[in-house]
Amino acid sequence: MDIPINIVKSRASEALIKAVISLVSIKSPEEVAEMEKAVNITRAMHLAAMRRARPGILEAELAGIVEGIALAADGQLSYPAILTVNGQTLHNHYHGNTLKEGQLVLGDFGAETPTHYAGDITRTFPVSKSFNTRQKEIYKIVLDTEVACIEALKPGIPYRDVHLYAARMITEGLKALGIMKGDTEEAVQAGAHALFFPHGLGHMIGMDVHDMEGLGEDHVGYGDEMERSSQFGLKSLRLARTLMPGFVLTVEPGIYFIPELIGQWQEERKHWEFINYEKAQQYRDFSGVRIEDNVLITETGHQILGQPIPKTIQEVEAVRQG
Ligand code: GLY
Ligand code: MN
Ligand code: MN
Repeated sequence: MDIPINIVKSRASEALIKAVISLVSIKSPEEVAEMEKAVNITRAMHLAAMRRARPGILEAELAGIVEGIALAADGQLSYPAILTVNGQTLHNHYHGNTLKEGQLVLGDFGAETPTHYAGDITRTFPVSKSFNTRQKEIYKIVLDTEVACIEALKPGIPYRDVHLYAARMITEGLKALGIMKGDTEEAVQAGAHALFFPHGLGHMIGMDVHDMEGLGEDHVGYGDEMERSSQFGLKSLRLARTLMPGFVLTVEPGIYFIPELIGQWQEERKHWEFINYEKAQQYRDFSGVRIEDNVLITETGHQILGQPIPKTIQEVEAVRQG
């Protein structure tokens, strides 16, 4: 068939795309074993970053150590590493900052095995040997949210519900600190939490870190089941559909204080009934916290892939104090 190259994509068979997605979404035991390998290499990378961080070194030094471990395992990075003291800037690949006492390092990176299966893990840790009180308070909200969302995973529940559950937990946590206010359900419905949690809870992962994205994000994450929202925050949710045994996905809630966005919303008086801007402004220099794991949906529930990676405040501080 003579189809000009510039319209090939628009002429692709939707039936074929859907068939490929339904096959590739369900990972075989052999694929899961490969993905566990990817997560275990990724674990070594995160442990190395946590152990080697200290005031006075460049983010780039840690990024080099991390990438070296992926290469030494005969793999490579599964996406360009995020390793930054400015975790509030999403997809921040700048590595030129020098670590300082009191800062947080957000590391979001993973290894790809020689067979190209990907790991995608995030940890956030203090440059100092322990978290300060304010960091602990925010970290605890993200950690509790991540753990509760993973606990909720099983076949038959739409991932969008889990995302909204995360949004409610983050809202509740921020309300307890006086940063948000008002009715939690109404705040989440309105999308007010997205000032602090502007991205989706997770995505499918496999041979691509955002699995099968080339076939169309909506086909992969929404299918015929639901429409993607146009609301700020919720529109960034890559996976929303009902979970099935064999799916492997990420769970990655976060809380970020983005000074420019706080300032802009405050000026617009946006969601003022749910956000205590005066309090939020006090966190302008906080940066961000994200925690991410890779999880298999089983017949009855879920299984976190790979060996555990330090995640509680105690575990992370123990590594930092080495
Ligand atoms: N590192 C990309 C992601 O977490 O989706
Ligand atoms: Mn990630
Ligand atoms: Mn991810």
